[in-house]
Parts: sequence; C-alpha cells; structure tokens
Amino acid sequence: MKKVLVLNGSPKKDGSTTMLVTNNFLKGLESTGEYKSEIINVSSLNVKPCKGCLSCWGRTNGKCVISGDDVQMVKDKILESQIIILSFPIFIFGIPGELKVLFDRLLSLLHRYEGLPVPEKGPMHGFSFDISKKKIIVIPGCAWSDWRVFEPIEMQFDCIFGKGEYTTIFAPQIRTAVAMKIRPRFVKFLTKYEAAGKEFAEKGFLSEETKQNVIKPYYSDAVYKQLVDSFWEIEDGAYKESLKK
Ligand SMILES: Cc1cc2nc3c(=O)[nH]c(=O)nc-3n(C[C@H](O)[C@H](O)[C@H](O)COP(=O)(O)O)c2cc1C
Repeated sequence: MKKVLVLNGSPKKDGSTTMLVTNNFLKGLESTGEYKSEIINVSSLNVKPCKGCLSCWGRTNGKCVISGDDVQMVKDKILESQIIILSFPIFIFGIPGELKVLFDRLLSLLHRYEGLPVPEKGPMHGFSFDISKKKIIVIPGCAWSDWRVFEPIEMQFDCIFGKGEYTTIFAPQIRTAVAMKIRPRFVKFLTKYEAAGKEFAEKGFLSEETKQNVIKPYYSDAVYKQLVDSFWEIEDGAYKESLKK
C-alpha cells in the first residue's frame, strides 16, 4: 500500500471547508485500492517555532536542536509517504501561520544554501532526501474566485518544489458555499475532485483538461457576489443581535 500524507493547515481542523475538496480527492485516490491516507491537522500538533540557528544544515547534520515536540514525527511521515498533500486556506495571500511555522522547522529537508546561482527552473535548494518518487499536491482554499489570489503562494511553492514539479488543485468559494447551505448541487460539484483523485491514482498525474477543470470555480462572478453579500448580511445581523444581549 502506498502512503498518502495530508497536512491539513486549516485552524478549523476537521471543520475545514478546503478539506471537503481534499477528502473528495482522497476518495478517488483510494478507490483504486493502492493508496492509504493519513490526515494530520497541523493545528493539533505541538510545533515550536524555528530558532533560526541553522544548526540542522551544519553542526547537527539534519537534527533539529529543538526536541520534545511533534516535528520529528511529521518529518518521518513525510519521508515514508509517496504522496504529500498540503491542504490549507489562503490567509492574507499566504499560507496560514501554523503551517508556515511547521515548514520552517522542516528546513533540514531542503538542501542547504551553498551560494550557488538561482537555478533556471528547478527548486531553489533541492532536497536533502530523494524526492524523485514522491508526488506533491497543493490544495489551497480561498474566498476569492480568481486564480491570481494563489499566485503569491504559487511563487513560494515554485521556489520550494520547482515550477511544474507539483500539482495544484484550487478550491475557491467553498467556505461561502458551505456557509450558505446550498448543498445538494454543490455536493455533486465536489465529485469532480473525486474523479481527479482517481485519475491521479491511475496515471500519477492529471491531464491538462482535468487540471483546468479542478481550478474552475463553481459560481460565476455575478452569482458569487450575491452569495457573498448574503453571507455578510447574515454575519452583520448576528453582530447586531449580539449587541442586544
Ligand atoms: C485570517 C484570514 C485571512 C484570509 N485571507 C484570505 C485571502 O488573502 N484571500 C482569500 O481569497 N481568502 C482569504 N481568507 C478566506 C479563507 O481563505 C477562506 O475562508 C477559506 O476557504 C477557508 O478555508 P477552511 O475552511 O479550509 O479553513 C482569509 C481568512 C482568514 C480567516
């Protein structure tokens, strides 16, 4: 059985709406019977922030000077998994804080900086382990519908993994759609992610057509605008009610 590790970076843990996309993708991936997945809620982990000492790149040869938290366990699981899925909400055009704190602590997984010129295409550092047989899948969830919201993060992942060296499944609008409880049609829409997971399990990559399909938002801009307006109407109403108490 091949191992799939999901790092869920949403502070909402199992309540993550991005995970609706991820779970559908996993359903498809596991349907072939070849893969078994494990989900780690990053918010539930004990992860102390990196001290910035760079010891892991030199004097301790890969070992972090911080001990007694969950980072080594995550590192081991990354090393033994064939697919690593990063599922997270976009927070202020970046990855959420807790996931970033974990990334920093995983510095030893990157090859150390040795003053070489920036590579043309590939990852900036390369890796301290053999990543060639692993697949990286990035699933960012966000409120905006436009792919451009992901571009700042895409740039970061291009630096880490290399352009075109990872698969992105964009999950816009999902949180608003879930909040507005328009479920039956929406649940049907989510099955496209399941189909994508199955395709990935069978081929090891997504076709261009599927890639385009999985980044397409559910609602048109006009319909989505109405939905967002209604969402804030309800939120503002709840605030006014809270003042009466
Ligand atoms: C602190 C914070 C910052 C956010 N920043 C952005 C943003 O920059 N762009 C965006 O499209 N959505 C932004 N959002 C909305 C979330 O990305 C969106 O609600 C997401 O779908 C939630 O996913 P989750 O349910 O998996 O946590 C932000 C939300 C929060 C709480």
